[in-house]
Amino acid sequence: MKKITIAIDGYSSTGKSTVAKQLADHLGYVYVDSGAMYRAVTLYAMQHDIISKNHFDTLKLKQSLGSIDLKFKKEYVWSKAHIFLNEQDVEDKIRNLEVSEFVSPIATIHEVRKKLVAQQQQMGLEKGVVMDGRDIGTVVFPNAELKIFMNASAQERAQRRYKELLERSENIQFDEVLKNIQERDHIDTTRQDSPLVKAADAIEIDNSEMNLEDQFHTVLQLAKDRIAGRI
Ligand code: CDP
Ligand code: CDP
Repeated sequence: MKKITIAIDGYSSTGKSTVAKQLADHLGYVYVDSGAMYRAVTLYAMQHDIISKNHFDTLKLKQSLGSIDLKFKKEYVWSKAHIFLNEQDVEDKIRNLEVSEFVSPIATIHEVRKKLVAQQQQMGLEKGVVMDGRDIGTVVFPNAELKIFMNASAQERAQRRYKELLERSENIQFDEVLKNIQERDHIDTTRQDSPLVKAADAIEIDNSEMNLEDQFHTVLQLAKDRIAGRI
């Protein structure tokens, strides 16, 4: 069967990675969580005194990029792949609210994006890939055969993320999560380099009122139609 490239972009907590993983498993495609790469660089920056609440040493970040090695390692299926930072499994560590608070400033740096975009493009060379992020359909794979842009209300997205963080037993307030989502939306959509924007040929899905199953079936049908050349 013909293999295509599927780009899934959108705002935080719209269900991008959930649907991208389901799609990759169903189609036997590689799944790449591009956000995990920005989060892993952020974790490195936090661990190496590059970013904290009071300072952000962009020069040191740029000089450190050569020392940051990122790899996805999968066991059985891509949806369960973990990201490794310099050979350390950081899949769990990168998901906390502290990393979420620093990741969008880190993702504004051109040199960071250049490095990660090159690696992402390499992973998609043979097609048969589903990648989710903010600039996949616009910058990483502008020729992707299927581009999805996901959206949902900020309130609904914050509720979803709050529930997830509570399940990780993080001691947080709903308002903190909502504030983080709104701040990241703002930085991600207004940055100079590769801002989050819907590609002209992307199909927009608002899933504020959609459950995970409906959302998966909608996207799977689009992928099947595109693979078969029906749309
Ligand atoms: O899952 P969630 O929406 O919380 O975020 P993520 O996909 O893990 O991405 C974290 C952050 O990385 C985003 O808020 C962006 O600042 C940045 N990012 C980006 O700039 N470009 C991408 N392709 C993916 C993520
Ligand atoms: O990757 P992204 O940040 O866009 O979102 P996600 O990690 O796939 O989804 C964030 C949370 O929202 C997860 O706990 C999903 O199960 C939940 N979600 C939902 O309940 N209903 C949807 N239609 C989409 C996501």
